[in-house]
Amino acid sequence: MTLKNGIRSCKNLAVRSLVAFFGLGTLAAQQADDPPIRAIQNIFEPLSTPALKIHETSIPVLLICAGIFVLVTSLLIYIVVKFRQRSEADRHIEPPQVYGSSHIELAWTVIPIIITVVLILITARTIGEIQNAPIPEDAVRIRVVGHQWWWEVHYLKQDENGEWVTDFITANEIHVPVGTREEPKRTHFILESADVIHSFWVPQLAGKMDVIPNRKNELWIEPWATGTYLGNCAEYCGTQHAKMKIRVIVNEPEAFEAWAANQRQVPTTVEPQVALGHKLFMDYACANCHTVDGTIADGVFGPDLTKLMTRRTLGSGAVDNTPENLFKWVRDPQAPDMKPGCLMPDMKMLDSEVKEIVAYLETLK
Ligand code: CUA
Repeated sequence: MTLKNGIRSCKNLAVRSLVAFFGLGTLAAQQADDPPIRAIQNIFEPLSTPALKIHETSIPVLLICAGIFVLVTSLLIYIVVKFRQRSEADRHIEPPQVYGSSHIELAWTVIPIIITVVLILITARTIGEIQNAPIPEDAVRIRVVGHQWWWEVHYLKQDENGEWVTDFITANEIHVPVGTREEPKRTHFILESADVIHSFWVPQLAGKMDVIPNRKNELWIEPWATGTYLGNCAEYCGTQHAKMKIRVIVNEPEAFEAWAANQRQVPTTVEPQVALGHKLFMDYACANCHTVDGTIADGVFGPDLTKLMTRRTLGSGAVDNTPENLFKWVRDPQAPDMKPGCLMPDMKMLDSEVKEIVAYLETLK
């Protein structure tokens, strides 16, 4: 094994342990045509314009701070060693007391001010470049609403009056088209909250942005590598803050368009073999909280389920979207291995009823 390979396998091991330890994303939840998962939320591997700008800012800032850290720490160690108590007699000798050296005081006032101003200038330039960037005509526009503890995602289109209105709705998993460094493809987000303060963060694509009630914050990305990017809510927002994950699936433009075309398609019929499950779904409270387009279910408290089976995870990244997990989720989302504390209650249904409902849900794709 060469040194380089050795380092790489150590790095992979470290990344995998971190992923396992923090439960960062459910790595198995891939579908056949998915681009590969970018293993970890890594600010040092930016793959989109704003993330790159932030990375380029963070390096000089880190270097300056590292310089200060090394200087202060070495002075401290030097002083501790040099002026330590060497013998019993040292105890009774008072060192010379020096007051008011204007040279020293000037130096330790002026130098930090200069350093701080430099840091402010570097940071302000990056913030300005990112926030003042005009939105290109062909940008994909998405409105994201943070909820305890999931993300509501509206793809927008312009109506005949030029207003931006909802084209279709999904949740927790955001698909966007890829661009190149030379010809970037912009996706523009408008971020809102339905309840408390959240924070939208996909580290490899852009910086963090707070998601605040009664406010519209904006954020944009221009990814140049396909992949499934993992992110998370980055502001503590209650019990299940840690399971408020974000998946951004960056795909070739054709694959993105195919996905979007399917999301727009409203189902018109219920397959006869799942009619009982459909009825149970509508009769139980499910329909009060969830929307399924083309049915009477029009609740908006929980995620829109019209295309549930096109998603990789359940509960905003809590578990993989597999038939077993879907069964466990519908039976009791409060179970310890699901998402205890989430706002969907245990409906105390019979297993036979859950089975019918799951069979119906599995047709939503
Ligand atoms: Cu939403 Cu933390």
